[in-house]
Amino acid sequence: MTEQRRPLISGNWKMNLNHFEAIKLVQELSYAVSRDDVDAVDISLHVPFTDVRTVQTVLEADKIPFFLGAQHCHFEASGAFTGEISPTMLAKLNVAYVLVGHSERRQLFGEDDEMCNAKIKAIIAAEMKPILCVGETLEERDAGEAETIVTSQIEACLQGVKAETLEGFVIAYEPIWAIGTGKTATAADAQDMCAHVRRVFAKLYNTELADSLRVQYGGSVKPANAAELLTQPDIDGALVGGASLDAAHFAKIIQYRLAE
Ligand code: 13P
Repeated sequence: MTEQRRPLISGNWKMNLNHFEAIKLVQELSYAVSRDDVDAVDISLHVPFTDVRTVQTVLEADKIPFFLGAQHCHFEASGAFTGEISPTMLAKLNVAYVLVGHSERRQLFGEDDEMCNAKIKAIIAAEMKPILCVGETLEERDAGEAETIVTSQIEACLQGVKAETLEGFVIAYEPIWAIGTGKTATAADAQDMCAHVRRVFAKLYNTELADSLRVQYGGSVKPANAAELLTQPDIDGALVGGASLDAAHFAKIIQYRLAE
């Protein structure tokens, strides 16, 4: 079954690059990535809101086969929510994937599982795909609680989400201690946790749906460690922060197959 899952490699630009810089990076990346790469791997770019319309225009005008992604959205369709952006606004710009529950949003902006749950439902209703981010802190890992924490995040965030809406769902396992620190989980630890994510999902739904679930690993993914991580049986892609801001580095991660 594993071989049927298409890898999804996502660049999370976080709060970086204005819309001029965005055009440059997307164009550089489109030159660095080959037809064979996009035949083998799905690529999504999670850009700041101010870049979404610009990147949409570049992708469409130049027929660049990358998926447009966002990093966040509100769960309501419209209303008095100063500063927020709705799922329907993003869908109108052909955004395909939206990150939900990134640890930076959880830790710095108080997003909890309940909000993630509402967002997942709203993103699916707007016909986009959420990428649910889960992961434990170093303290939780050292206390042997990594699996329990990740289980409870998945259960709470998917509360009441119907199986028929979850075809091709994506969960990104990002251990918080590996984000932006240069510390990567070992390939074996990342594989164990991604397999755990799939087991939890199978228990909540069924094995057939869990076989189609794409589980990404995120946390200091770089050209040097991409191949080892991405060839693990339960790792179906990567959510890349820092290295996605450099076209050559991100392209090398996309081309992990060639490094073997
Ligand atoms: P880094 O790749 O910079 O560690 O960031 C990971 C991340 O948070 C992606 O969402």
